[in-house]
Amino acid sequence: PGAPRINPSILSADFANMQADLARIASADFVHVDVMDNHFVPNLTFGPQMVERVQATSPVPLDVHLMIDDPDRWAPGYAELGAASVTFHLEAAAEPVALARRLRGIGARAGVAVKPATDVDRLFEHLHEFDQILVMTVEPGFGGQSFRADTMPKLRRLAEETRRRGADVWLQVDGGISADTIGEAAAAGADTFVAGSAVYGAADVDAAIAGLRAAAAA
Ligand code: DX5
Ligand code: ZN
Repeated sequence: PGAPRINPSILSADFANMQADLARIASADFVHVDVMDNHFVPNLTFGPQMVERVQATSPVPLDVHLMIDDPDRWAPGYAELGAASVTFHLEAAAEPVALARRLRGIGARAGVAVKPATDVDRLFEHLHEFDQILVMTVEPGFGGQSFRADTMPKLRRLAEETRRRGADVWLQVDGGISADTIGEAAAAGADTFVAGSAVYGAADVDAAIAGLRAAAAA
């Protein structure tokens, strides 16, 4: 495995100072952009107009996480505005494989996410259709929740299956990732780590990113 990727989530940034808060994470790998629609999750953030401005301003590529209904309709627009990676929820997609192919066709990395209670086994036959699989380590909707260690067996099976099939897919975790929990997720097979409060809640953002990187590699 290569170096762990650290993707700070701007859900924990200051929405009134987004440009400054994006500039603070230049040492990260991607910026994680949480789009919520108040239907798929009980919270509302922003849509394509905001993400387009983040895309124009961010020092690092965009990792868009769509917590929305009907991604079959809306996800391609985020690829078209230039997001490097677009991840939709398996629970919300009508045709996940077809949608992943469309995202790749536009030039984005195609990602699929699962909530803590959602099984990943139906993805095993299709691992090569995706560039990233996101195992949610909290119930999606809010930052600052506690890491759910009960999702680790699922991540372990997914990592095992990925290796067995030789699939080139990044395994991402999102929710409650901190210097205390990142090692457990890395040991279970994650290589790509979202962190909101652990990065933006730190006095020294660069030190927080470096600390996560070190703890994931340990
Ligand atoms: C939660 C979002 C996460 C959130 C993580 O639904 O998908 O990306 O920002 O926040 P922390 O790292 O604080 O748990
Ligand atoms: Zn997220």
